Amino acid sequence: MKVLAGSASVRLGKRTAKSLGVEPIDRDFTRFPDGEGYLRLQDEPEEITILIQCAYPDENIMELFLMQDAIREGGGKMIITVIPYMGYSRQDKLFKEGEAVSARALVKHLELHTDALIFVDLHSKKILDFASKKAIECSAMPPIAAYFRDKDIDFVLSPDKGAVDRAGKVAKLMGKQFDYLEKTRLDGSTVKMAPKNLDVDGKSVLIVDDIIATGGTIIKATEQLKASGAERVMAACTHGLYTSNALERLEPALDGVYSTDTLESGTSKITVADQIASAVKDIVSEL
Ligand code: R5P
Repeated sequence: MKVLAGSASVRLGKRTAKSLGVEPIDRDFTRFPDGEGYLRLQDEPEEITILIQCAYPDENIMELFLMQDAIREGGGKMIITVIPYMGYSRQDKLFKEGEAVSARALVKHLELHTDALIFVDLHSKKILDFASKKAIECSAMPPIAAYFRDKDIDFVLSPDKGAVDRAGKVAKLMGKQFDYLEKTRLDGSTVKMAPKNLDVDGKSVLIVDDIIATGGTIIKATEQLKASGAERVMAACTHGLYTSNALERLEPALDGVYSTDTLESGTSKITVADQIASAVKDIVSEL
């Protein structure tokens, strides 16, 4: 078994290879003057190749297809494609007639040249149903809980109902108080939170979500926490997407913003490599 990581997942690829105790495959990836990618593997693939690359943004998706093709061309028999961050997850159904179901379109293409898919904290579970090959999801909540275990957190908050299971898991693993807020999304970058009396006076709070995109959700939740007397507010997410200069607004408003290495940035202090390695072992043991 070997690990091949794409440009979007270099560090996570190395960490996963280390966790599995296998070698990474070296590759040459460059761009032609017109922007098209060129890929060449510098090592031969083994019987099983673990391919790790985010399906976001579009150029990384194309790079992923080139890697799948090169593995097959090089004689690799089995490909397990790991998608640390799955793009297009929010368009998982028709909202208006005539639209594409983008998440389904992407899954259908991702699985064309793979034997199994591994995702991390999917925004929509429907993605697993779109796949016709073996597809599993692993959770970043255990490493998030482990990271904050010695950081004096008193209270864990889910900023909306959608994140209750995930944030609740972190609270349970840490043995901390837990609550959630009710969020309404007004548009792509604006959210509204129903006021709620939270038992956080003088406490240190960790907000846990799957994605931080514009940061609007975390900013609104922080306002509520501060209004309820929270002394310290930190936020942790699996996928630090940080669109619209989110970090510039979040960092001054909070006492710390953290993410995992599914999307690599300065906040990626937590790794999901062991979760991916364990999912890989589960799949391989079933084959
Ligand atoms: C929503 O359902 C997700 O769990 C996140 O809360 C959302 O994607 C965060 O987006 P933003 O940072 O733009 O508020």
